[in-house]
Amino acid sequence: MIRSIRIAATVLLLLVGLAWGAAWFRAAPGEPLGQSFARLVAGAAPPSAGGVALPGGVSLGGPFALTDHTGRAVTDADYRGSFLLVFFGFTFCPDVCPTELQTVAAAMDLLGPQAARVRPLFITVDPARDTPAKLAEYVALFHPAITGLTGTPEQVAAVARAYRVYYARATPAGASEYLMDHSAFTYLMGPDGTLRTIFRPGVPAEEIAGALRAQLGAPARS
Ligand code: NI
Repeated sequence: MIRSIRIAATVLLLLVGLAWGAAWFRAAPGEPLGQSFARLVAGAAPPSAGGVALPGGVSLGGPFALTDHTGRAVTDADYRGSFLLVFFGFTFCPDVCPTELQTVAAAMDLLGPQAARVRPLFITVDPARDTPAKLAEYVALFHPAITGLTGTPEQVAAVARAYRVYYARATPAGASEYLMDHSAFTYLMGPDGTLRTIFRPGVPAEEIAGALRAQLGAPARS
């Protein structure tokens, strides 16, 4: 069972990687990779669940039911009308998550007043440790607009599956606490809940802000 999940996750990562490769080849001169990727996935047929079909028939995004960091039960429908920056991680993460959340926070600051139309969602892949209270404390360290989301292990597994996020417990040698291996893309979802683009880990805040400005319909700053 675990083995087949690993194989499926590896295949999905390869497909996403292939899509990125294709985006790189097809990018117009000077076009950010994220935009080329968006162009590529936008050309694919829309799937039923509210995501975008990736090459190979992989769809991304869709309905979810979770609990926010204030303890309120929420679904994807609660966030319709806003652009979403969706990131999966866990509060105990030593490096990738804090870096990506700092980037998301910086992108929000770069947007200025337009940031009011954008909601960053941080969805934990470690619901055993990430309670709403823990998430509330954590997201507040980065930006007041970030919402932390957790749920039952089944709810978290379902939303991770919808976004094709791989995660697994891993305990480093000699460590007493486990970590979570997880994929670390940031998903930009439109106000209608469909995928607009994906940002690779390590993306500069300026690139996220630029993509959002383009989606928000405002002229780019010169
Ligand atoms: Ni992380």
